[in-house]
Amino acid sequence: MPESYATKKLAGMNLNQKLDYVAKKSITHYGCFGCHTIDGFEKAKPIGTDLTEEGSKPTIKLDFGLHHDIDHTNFAWFEAKLGNPRIFDRDKVSPTLDKLKMPNFDFNETEIEAITTAILGFNGNKVDEGIKAHNRVDEMAQNGARLVKQFNCQGCHLIDDFGGQLVDHIGAAEYAPPNLNTEGAKANPDWLLSFFNNPSIIRPNLEVRMPSFHQITDEQWNAIIKYFQHLDNEKISYRDELAINEHSIEFKGGEMLHELGACTNCHFYGTTFPKQDASTWAPNLALTKDRLNPDWVKEWLRDPQTIMPGTKMPAPFLPTEDLLTIDGAKNDWGKELVKMNGDTEAMLDGLRDYVWSIKGKTNIDKTIQDYFDENGYDFSGDDDEDEDDWGDDEDW
Ligand code: HEC
Ligand code: HEC
Ligand code: HEC
Repeated sequence: MPESYATKKLAGMNLNQKLDYVAKKSITHYGCFGCHTIDGFEKAKPIGTDLTEEGSKPTIKLDFGLHHDIDHTNFAWFEAKLGNPRIFDRDKVSPTLDKLKMPNFDFNETEIEAITTAILGFNGNKVDEGIKAHNRVDEMAQNGARLVKQFNCQGCHLIDDFGGQLVDHIGAAEYAPPNLNTEGAKANPDWLLSFFNNPSIIRPNLEVRMPSFHQITDEQWNAIIKYFQHLDNEKISYRDELAINEHSIEFKGGEMLHELGACTNCHFYGTTFPKQDASTWAPNLALTKDRLNPDWVKEWLRDPQTIMPGTKMPAPFLPTEDLLTIDGAKNDWGKELVKMNGDTEAMLDGLRDYVWSIKGKTNIDKTIQDYFDENGYDFSGDDDEDEDDWGDDEDW
């Protein structure tokens, strides 16, 4: 501001106003708000130089001042700056407000070297896109998609709306290789990897089995898993364990829904056989907690047909509020379900949590094989043709 104006303004200020003025000016000048929260400076911009691309700043733009003893390289300049931040002002005649103001952090040599290395990495050089982590995921997924084609997984499975023609041979979808809709959101990645390396029985009533692909490496399997996850927008590589509270109202309500849903008619519980015969046998529920994503299981219980059209699994019946308020409701549904008052989400959570509490052997291949060895695989009346084609995995 013009000096005459400044003098006039100064004459009109009392001591407090002067102190206030100098304080604000100094705080702004030294950028104290860069480190400290200070009232009134919330929106102030940092006073330091932008370091985002400092490593690729041309050396000619670094002011060496009157120093001829420092090598004219960017790293020599950074080292000198960090060791003595105001060194380049030395012997220069500059107005006070133009002087350097970066604080001295008293770094030792090791610290200076480490920080210099980091600054050299802050550069504008274009990095190869594939090196960036988020792009690598997509690249892996693409790789997985290629492998799925290469090994003709879609000869058996419907994947990404393509394939699964084997159903036409087998007849009913329920005896054919499963569609892999939602697989990326469905199965735990670590379970999948172990399944791929050593396929075990999930659906005990299928005669066709998932072949072993010994030629596929873990790295390739992981790419395939990434591809499945990519299709479902999943980004995780492991899942936390689901915590369940067996004393909660939800859990007790879920236990009741489990009983009413006659899950034991179709499902194995470890080596305990389903009540109904082999044609309606369904997966071992003692395996669910290792194998599946709890969020997915909740959606499965809500509506199995959407995920797996043609499945024999019925959506469990969930009592509505009006059913729970009629006389004798407590008798029919139990006091917990009555308390839950038709809350669909709570009921599905409770049923899912109950499934998580089911104990038993997780690999029941031997039990199932022994049964079919003894009784034969014959669901005549349920499906019509071609069973003999699928007896031998080794061809695949
Ligand atoms: C590089 C970050 C940084 C800058 C810039 C900075 N400070 Fe600090 N200041 C600190 C830290 C950290 C502390 C906490 C004590 C310590 O480690 O010295 C501190 C402590 C203080 C304290 C003592 C507070 C207490 O109650 O212990 C005062 C006063 C202070 N600073 C004022 C200022 C002023 C005024 C400015 C601007 C001229 C400023 N600081 C600039 C980092 C900074
Ligand atoms: C010969 C047909 C066949 C081929 C080829 C095949 N699968 Fe399978 N796959 C199956 C069958 C049958 C099952 C069901 C096993 C069960 O439920 O017991 C299965 C199960 C799976 C599952 C588990 C599904 C679930 O419910 O979680 C995945 C994942 C899978 N296959 C992926 C693949 C991939 C990837 C390929 C290619 C590398 C492939 N499959 C090739 C027949 C096949
Ligand atoms: C009529 C037979 C039947 C009944 C009753 C039944 N399910 Fe199922 N369930 C199935 C079939 C078949 C599948 C396999 C679907 C597929 O191909 O992925 C299945 C799949 C499941 C799965 C996924 C298992 C996995 O590893 O893929 C869960 C969890 C499940 N059922 C829970 C239940 C619960 C809880 C009940 C009782 C409320 C129940 N089911 C009642 C037939 C049944």
